[in-house]
Amino acid sequence: MVYFFFEPTKTEMTDKIYYSKSEKDTFNIAAEFTKVLKKGDVVFLIGDLGMGKTTFVKGIAQALGIRSRILSPTFSLIRTHEISGNSKINTIHHVDLYRVGDKDKAMEEILKEFLSNKEGVIIIEWPKKKTNIEANWVVQFEEKDSAREIKIKNERKKY
Ligand SMILES: Nc1ncnc2c1ncn2[C@@H]1O[C@H](COP(=O)(O)OP(=O)(O)OP(=O)(O)O)[C@@H](O)[C@H]1O
Ligand SMILES: [Mg+2]
Repeated sequence: MVYFFFEPTKTEMTDKIYYSKSEKDTFNIAAEFTKVLKKGDVVFLIGDLGMGKTTFVKGIAQALGIRSRILSPTFSLIRTHEISGNSKINTIHHVDLYRVGDKDKAMEEILKEFLSNKEGVIIIEWPKKKTNIEANWVVQFEEKDSAREIKIKNERKKY
């Protein structure tokens, strides 16, 4: 099957730009991204409120076969999902720093601990809170012509 709509329209080195017109599109784009995700990866999700960052995490979780519900972590800042029977990635740490202050030492320690145990993937919404953690993937969400542009870059970034 050809998902014409999900084909990246522009390629700059490893950058990929997708356009999502629905929640389902975002799920499919996330599933496509999941194919290149590896243990130890750190992903920053950048974009305004309601742009689809948590939806993107749900898409990754579904692609990895996670059955627990992915909630927007409004109260829990971190939700960890274990994936049994998946040798590629065993754990996803879904982190939302929206309510965390800048340079929060406790959060930095927790993220460092996740990093030291290289079994998992760390996915961070609102990463600009200077936690001293370096991402190797940056996913940017932006409103464009009544769709959402999702730009995926394989680049190192730290705030
Ligand atoms: N193309 C789209 N992709 C993703 N979600 C969409 C799209 N179009 C509409 N939606 C709706 O937008 C909302 C996105 O919510 P989501 O929680 O994923 O955003 P978010 O970026 O995580 O926001 P926050 O910054 O508050 O955490 C959902 O209610 C979803 O149904
Ligand atoms: Mg969210």
